[in-house]
Amino acid sequence: MKITVVGAGAVGASCAEYIAIKNFASEVVLVDIKENFAEGKAMDLMQTATLNGFDTKITGSTNDYSKTANSDVAVITSGIPRKPGMSREELIGINAGIVKTVSENLIKHSPNVILIIVSNPMDTMTYLAHQVTGLPKNRIIGMGGALDSARFKYRLSEALECSALDIDGMVIGGHSDKGMLPLTRLATRNSVRVSEFITEERLQKVLEDTKVGGATLTSMLGTSAWYAPGAAVSSLVHSIACDQYKMFPCSAMLNGEYGLNDLCIGVPVILGKNGIERIVEIDLNDAEKEKLNDSAEGVRATNALLD
Ligand code: 2OP
Repeated sequence: MKITVVGAGAVGASCAEYIAIKNFASEVVLVDIKENFAEGKAMDLMQTATLNGFDTKITGSTNDYSKTANSDVAVITSGIPRKPGMSREELIGINAGIVKTVSENLIKHSPNVILIIVSNPMDTMTYLAHQVTGLPKNRIIGMGGALDSARFKYRLSEALECSALDIDGMVIGGHSDKGMLPLTRLATRNSVRVSEFITEERLQKVLEDTKVGGATLTSMLGTSAWYAPGAAVSSLVHSIACDQYKMFPCSAMLNGEYGLNDLCIGVPVILGKNGIERIVEIDLNDAEKEKLNDSAEGVRATNALLD
């Protein structure tokens, strides 16, 4: 299993590190446009192999996509990250050009690749990757909901004062502060609804904190976060590489599911060796449906900026 990660910045490098530590891939190729940067990160990571106990081979390349040939999965993290006070949508001008070029280069050398898009505004970049590559819809996946759900579970565990591993919950909708839809109604602590443990007011605060999860870290760190984004991507890659059939909310091209068409937005999907094996349609109540539709309008408005 050969994995390419384009962009050796903080998110790309964390992603490569988590993939290596989980030790399921034979090879990870890091690509960056900055001379020797990916090579340096790859060498640094390889020097952790004996310490962390993995035998995944990590190499770096300065923009030479021939090194990525025959990748099974490629992750696109390239582009500029958010600065404090910026929305993900504000990045579209620069990142659209980068995602287009990177997608074209990847497909040229790996026609059978499954693409995972991380660059922001992620739902729109996922849509753009579809337009540029024409790949079947199961082979382009946007990473947002897996990260937002991890943040949701963290916030819930804080509120319930329990282990995050006891929490089950999901965030669907667009990967944006306004568009995210944490499904508080369905979140549980070991199958017991979280509303049994905390007040409606506290649950509302969890919801609000989750929605600004990325922005909160951006203002604390001066740039966007990387550990949780990297870990979230590596979980998606793992499920595809090992055909695990795990379910994550991911940005997927919809064709009538949830009553939506011709846009990519976060919905629960099953990930296996073919990428998106299935889109899962869950029973949303009227309020949730309305919020998902509003979120879809927001994604469409950002997609319109591509024209
Ligand atoms: C985040 O939410 C980078 O969009 C990513 O941290």
